[in-house]
Amino acid sequence: MKKDMLTIYDLDADDFGEIFKRAERLKNLLYRGVEHASLRGKTLGMLFDKASTRTRLSFEAGIHQLGGAGIFLSRRDIQLGRGEPVSDTARVMSRYIDGIMIRTFEQELVEEFARYATIPVINGLTDLLHPCQVLSDLFTIIEKKGGYEGLKVAYVGDGNNMTNSWINAAARLPFRLAIACPQGYDPDGAILERGIREAKEGIELLRTPADAVAGADVIYTDVWASMGQEDEQDERVAAFQGYQVNEKLLGCAKRDAIVMHCLPAHRGEEITAGVIDGPHSVIIDQAENRLHVQKAIMEILMSGGREK
Ligand code: CP
Ligand code: NVA
Repeated sequence: MKKDMLTIYDLDADDFGEIFKRAERLKNLLYRGVEHASLRGKTLGMLFDKASTRTRLSFEAGIHQLGGAGIFLSRRDIQLGRGEPVSDTARVMSRYIDGIMIRTFEQELVEEFARYATIPVINGLTDLLHPCQVLSDLFTIIEKKGGYEGLKVAYVGDGNNMTNSWINAAARLPFRLAIACPQGYDPDGAILERGIREAKEGIELLRTPADAVAGADVIYTDVWASMGQEDEQDERVAAFQGYQVNEKLLGCAKRDAIVMHCLPAHRGEEITAGVIDGPHSVIIDQAENRLHVQKAIMEILMSGGREK
């Protein structure tokens, strides 16, 4: 039976360790220049309804390094953009390719696609979630801190797709999550409620960034206006005053705290240049790890045969 990765909740307890172990191995092989063509002959479709640098490049380079091929699909250029139903698109694509990564607006679209597709569907970001990013970030935390168990992760800023996926992760894995968002910009209510109920080490929603960051091992932030919210830019900049990750806020965290951002970043808005380009920042290693972790995910999901 094919498996999808539409949310962190699609992963079983064992899957996390398996992804991180494979990612470490694949990273090692790549650095040693050892061929690792475990998906030779396989094809990944990559459907983008939104812009991307990291997701597109890491999936496309990743499937290539695994011996397969990636096909970039923009809604504009395929019949889906002219109204062909998702059900037909997903079933037809399943006869040609071995997996599909989708970046779009509604989470419902990736879910509908997955219902009809007989190939694995991977969520490459929706308005609601960004699971590949959080899995890569957890791998980066393992590399930098030796593990995430018992650590405190502070998320400061907009309660967006990144925050929602962090909540999902804290519901499944043993780390503390403290979120500081301005009122009116909270994470998804249902995701937060379930997260708080199931959290291993606790999830808190706070209003004061310094309280969230107090004693944190990891400080995480993201843009104030996500893709699709460009019209709200000015009102959001006003609403998020006081929620910037800056040198003063960094001073509230542990001395060896790391600073993370999924990128792209707006220096001078959600984070200062001094912090994002300073010694605590791990943003470039974090971006690199998208490649290794997504290769691990593709290996796990796409190694099998075809189903009708
Ligand atoms: N972090 C991330 O998903 O980046 P892109 O939008 O460039 O893919
Ligand atoms: N929250 C951001 C993440 C970009 C990777 C957005 O959705 O635009």
